[in-house]
Amino acid sequence: MYSFVLALHSIVRWLVLLSLLYSLYRAYRGWLGNKQFTNLDNKVRHYTATISHVQLIVGIWLYFVSPIINYFLHNLKDAMSQREVRFFGMEHNLMMLIAITLITIGSAKAKRKTTNADKFKTIAIWYSLALIIIIVSVPWPFSSMASRPYFREF
Ligand code: HEM
Repeated sequence: MYSFVLALHSIVRWLVLLSLLYSLYRAYRGWLGNKQFTNLDNKVRHYTATISHVQLIVGIWLYFVSPIINYFLHNLKDAMSQREVRFFGMEHNLMMLIAITLITIGSAKAKRKTTNADKFKTIAIWYSLALIIIIVSVPWPFSSMASRPYFREF
């Protein structure tokens, strides 16, 4: 179960990143190029937020089955001084929660804006902030906090 959820969480990371990048490409292009906010733009806004919510659910699921988190929760004092355990027990989840909240707020605000430019601008700003947080909080193979592979087999 653990290895399945871990592999799922690892793969959905790429969907989160690709959908955010595509949303941002469309948002900046629309904002700076004074384009019409089309039905496709609206779908991209919506599905990007939905994919991040799926990753949130998988992340919470992983939190309850991960041996690292189990160790963290039962050995809080020692765990705090172990960089990788502290990263997955606290920092990763908190930062990702903030990022997903920014995406949710940005998506909801953009939906309510009435002009094309305001819709694009809202998505561009909120999703950009979320992307920065996500990029720095993912445990990349080269990360100093915790190193994990780009891809994992199911
Ligand atoms: C956009 C949001 C997120 C992204 C892109 C993301 C990405 C990742 C990646 C790439 C890993 C390493 C997976 C591997 O070892 O192959 C990971 C690990 C983990 N993530 Fe996330 N994550 C996100 C949100 C969350 C959230 C919201 C939670 C919990 C509430 C969470 C909990 C965990 C845990 C517990 C691990 C470590 C599991 C272990 O090694 O035992 N993640 N995450």
